Amino acid sequence: MKVQTKITLLLLAVVAIFMAGLWAFRAFDQQKFRQIRTNRLVEAKRAFDAFLAKDGEPLETLADYDTTWDAMVQAIRSRNLRWLDENVSHESLQAYKAHAAWIYSPDRTLLYSRNAIPVDPELDKAEAEKRSTIKPPDLPLPPEAFDELFAKQATAHFFIKVGDDWMEIRGATVHGSKDYARQTPQQGFFFVGRFWNKPTLEEMALFSNTNLSLVFGREPPREIVEDGLTAFTKILPGWDGQTVAYLLIRNEMPVVRLLNRSNERLIISLFVFALVLLLLIYWSVVRWVSHPLRRIMETLKRNDPKPIERLCWDHSEFGEMARTSKKFFEQRDNLVREMEERRVTEEALRKSEEELRHSQKMEAVGRLAGGVAHDFNNLLTAIIGYAELIATRTSSNSLAKQNAELIRKAGEQAAALTRQLLAFSRKQILQPKVIDLNALVLEMEKLLRRVIGERFDLQSHPDAENGRVKADPSQLEQVVLNLGVNARDAMPRGGKLIIRTENVRLDRKTAPQIAASLAPGDYVMLSVTDTGAGMDEETKSHIFEPFFTTKGPGKGTGLGLATVYGIVRQTGGGISVESEPGKGSIFRIYLPQESGPVDLSRTPLTPIEKSDNFETVLVVEDEDIVRELVCEVLEDQGYNVLCARDGIEALNMAEDFDGPIHLLVTDVIMPHMNGHELAGKLSQLRPDMKILYVSGYSDHEIGDHGLLDPHYELLQKPFTPQTLARKIREVIREGQYAATAK
Ligand SMILES: Nc1ncnc2c1ncn2[C@@H]1O[C@H](COP(=O)(O)OP(=O)(O)OP(=O)(O)O)[C@@H](O)[C@H]1O
Ligand SMILES: [Mg+2]
Repeated sequence: MKVQTKITLLLLAVVAIFMAGLWAFRAFDQQKFRQIRTNRLVEAKRAFDAFLAKDGEPLETLADYDTTWDAMVQAIRSRNLRWLDENVSHESLQAYKAHAAWIYSPDRTLLYSRNAIPVDPELDKAEAEKRSTIKPPDLPLPPEAFDELFAKQATAHFFIKVGDDWMEIRGATVHGSKDYARQTPQQGFFFVGRFWNKPTLEEMALFSNTNLSLVFGREPPREIVEDGLTAFTKILPGWDGQTVAYLLIRNEMPVVRLLNRSNERLIISLFVFALVLLLLIYWSVVRWVSHPLRRIMETLKRNDPKPIERLCWDHSEFGEMARTSKKFFEQRDNLVREMEERRVTEEALRKSEEELRHSQKMEAVGRLAGGVAHDFNNLLTAIIGYAELIATRTSSNSLAKQNAELIRKAGEQAAALTRQLLAFSRKQILQPKVIDLNALVLEMEKLLRRVIGERFDLQSHPDAENGRVKADPSQLEQVVLNLGVNARDAMPRGGKLIIRTENVRLDRKTAPQIAASLAPGDYVMLSVTDTGAGMDEETKSHIFEPFFTTKGPGKGTGLGLATVYGIVRQTGGGISVESEPGKGSIFRIYLPQESGPVDLSRTPLTPIEKSDNFETVLVVEDEDIVRELVCEVLEDQGYNVLCARDGIEALNMAEDFDGPIHLLVTDVIMPHMNGHELAGKLSQLRPDMKILYVSGYSDHEIGDHGLLDPHYELLQKPFTPQTLARKIREVIREGQYAATAK
């Protein structure tokens, strides 16, 4: 059960007990008041009975006295009305509180009657006299009533309606003066009555200190139970003993009422006080205990210290608890951070180990490829060159010409393979310049559309604000092409291919995740996304290895991504891949962002002009077979050719030759003196000379990482006689003079 529920229940129990106490107190109180009322009722009844007896006494006395009187007996017998008038006088009746009197003969006939209603003292005497002589209405008693009334006793007391008003009647049988016990036969009947009307009741109420009212009917009035009030009834009997009315006597007890009320108020105040106290306790407990507990619980549940942020300032035990929890969270966060840092470091380490392994592998392949490529390129230059010479020199359609063509084609295929070997082993010569990747992407879109076909939804988004990078454009084109072709192959049923550029900033954490050597900074990201088959983890871990392919024999060489990787790394960038089987792949290439202006220079293709080639070309090549081919081709083209075996021979020749030397065509790597040194020396001798380097590959001779200064013109081996001729023409026309080239 929750603490708050427990506290609530506890407080409810306390309130219930308190209420029970109040209720018991109240019950006891009421019992006490009931007791008081009962006692008071007995007292009040007794007092009222005594009052009633006293109040009725004059009437009773009158009835008693006037009926044992010889003169009265005589007057009735002789029907002496005058005597009756004089002796049953208005005044005497009033003196006994009677309002009327009736005298009956023994035969129950009314002999005499008179009223004694008090007259208004304002009236004049005659009028008062006149009123006092008015007869009261007859008593509505049937003849049998007389027997019944006096059957058991000689006096009667009953209530009856006379005229419009109720009267209390006292009566007695008339006897001689000696017969007080009323043993002798009755000599008549005497009744006196008193109105029980408003003035009478008011007077009675005044003297009895009660509140009186008459209730007519045989049914007793409902009992009145009220605070500070005692109420009881007196039965008013008729002549036949039946109830004709009730007198309701109410006795006020203001002190009791006040006491009762004040007790009631006390209990209500206590109740309200208890309620306020309870709410206060509840509010405090909830605020001091339940809320902090809930916040701490929330923090632990959500694993987030935010809910206890304010509680930490509290000086209570809960504040202490919150501070401890917060400290725990901080420690946990530190631990998580440390673990994350360690994970990142380990990841970077793993990555760099992987890269190291890969680069070692590449190094080995590269050394082999490089070593072979140098000789291969010389050989291939000769093979392709001579094959082409044969083809051009033999008559058209001859078998020899066709064979020579085939040799040239085979040679070119071998040359392509060599180029690729150099590319993925990062041994090829790059000619980097500042280019705009956005422009390159748009350019490549057209080419890709042709290559991959219409079935694909190809979209290019050159979104990078600054797409400038320093790279060899033809190599980057190769990269985009390889990635595009791979994407196509991964989507045999068509799909979406998106090429996008973006500016991204890599920080200390993210940069090493892409490539261990990648420095934090601003990069241009080129991404190629497809909706194709995707790759599993196993495939992903091998894709950059040369000759790794999942495509059937003859369908893929497995050099595409190895080449891409080599080019990207040689350019100083990194590559990452995200792929899931069935969900497609994203290849992301990160190249350092450049701020310099874009280098727009492009080498135009110039047509070969065979005629008027009078220029002198100095050819320096240590490989005989290549040198001879080059010289032969150039001579064929009409140039004046000087052929040297190495740098020293070339220097001598240049010194000895009188005419101008327009162009130096030199191999880069040569024994004794490399092409670069030779060019340096010759440029002083012949500042107007232009230079064209020819190279197979160079590991260390041509600048760092095989990057050649773009100011120099370079022709890569193997080349065909045609490309050689075109390049030479171009350099003689457009190239820089040796003296100005750096
Ligand atoms: N976009 C891609 N989606 C799925 N798999 C791919 C994707 N790109 C490359 N791969 C996988 O990587 C392997 C290696 O690709 P890579 O380009 O190096 O060689 P290849 O395409 O098989 O042959 P090629 O030398 O003709 O390019 C592929 O065989 C393929 O399994
Ligand atoms: Mg491929």
